[in-house]
Amino acid sequence: MRVFLTGATGFIGSAIIPELIGSGHEVLGLTRSEAGAQTLIAAGAEVHRGNLEDVESLRSGAAKSDGVIHCAFDHDFSNYVANCEKDGRAIEALGGALAGSDRPLVITSGTGMGSAAPGQPATEDYFDSSHPVPRKASELAGVSVAERGVNVSVVRLPQVHDTVKQGLITYLVAVAREKGISAYVGDGLNRWPAAHVSDVARLYRLALEKHEAGSRYHAVAEEGIPLKEIAEVIGRGLNVPVVSLPREQAGAHFGWLGGFAGWDMLASSALTQQRLGWHPTGPSLIADLENMRYF
Ligand SMILES: NC(=O)c1ccc[n+]([C@@H]2O[C@H](COP(=O)([O-])OP(=O)(O)OC[C@H]3O[C@@H](n4cnc5c(N)ncnc54)[C@H](OP(=O)(O)O)[C@@H]3O)[C@@H](O)[C@H]2O)c1
Repeated sequence: MRVFLTGATGFIGSAIIPELIGSGHEVLGLTRSEAGAQTLIAAGAEVHRGNLEDVESLRSGAAKSDGVIHCAFDHDFSNYVANCEKDGRAIEALGGALAGSDRPLVITSGTGMGSAAPGQPATEDYFDSSHPVPRKASELAGVSVAERGVNVSVVRLPQVHDTVKQGLITYLVAVAREKGISAYVGDGLNRWPAAHVSDVARLYRLALEKHEAGSRYHAVAEEGIPLKEIAEVIGRGLNVPVVSLPREQAGAHFGWLGGFAGWDMLASSALTQQRLGWHPTGPSLIADLENMRYF
């Protein structure tokens, strides 16, 4: 397939490119910048210049392709609600270009969207359309384009890691470095799921190739690692004390990340593994954090 990949220059997108090319697909990658274009060419992809704000640029990229993987996202968390709504508009535009065909659209969400009750693992077939996290806008847009007959699948992500980046944990490391303590909230037994970026890239390819309309997948290799364990490995890496904070102090300490730091986000991928034959093999989150260069 000729695949239009948004977010092609990003952490996950740049791992998806070799995964697709290695399986015989061609990649048309979206980027806003000349530097991004050069990176894409070096990776063996074609370049499509455009951005999330210019929905016509998204439509024209999708129109030139046999399928779309949507990984672009504006990660300015000070504008999170508006950025989630922007993602919804981007999905509507991409879906609009594919309507009336069976060409697949694979969109991105978070595993938290599959959480039915505290303490229970999030599961693939559950979607809480009134979830408090604004990222639900991505899945709601997916539902809306599916209703127009578009073949949409959702890949829900946990903390995606290698030895350089680890999702929200990258920000935890930055806060620990800045404040001189590696903190967790309360007893630190709340858990975050994780997967290695190479396993995540493979899952996007499998979801695209299967193109089963209406499917939701969890790219989860580890169902939940306690935040205390994560804080401890960061503390060792930075050589700073590991400290428990009361919940009321989380906002002051972690800033915008305070809302997430105390959350228990256990997530399962049992159905994904069964349905896609996807079996994660990459290093664990703790191994990648242990092997990271902290300075
Ligand atoms: N990394 C994780 O652990 C994690 C966890 C949960 C969910 N996710 C989701 O997974 C997806 C990929 O994440 P990532 O970590 O790979 O992101 P990333 O490394 O921050 O890369 C973001 C990508 O989005 C593109 N982008 C940003 N703003 C854009 C705009 N206004 N218009 C067009 N493109 C724009 C960038 O392209 P250019 O700068 O080249 O234009 C870049 O390719 C996102 O939806 C993210 O929210 C990631």
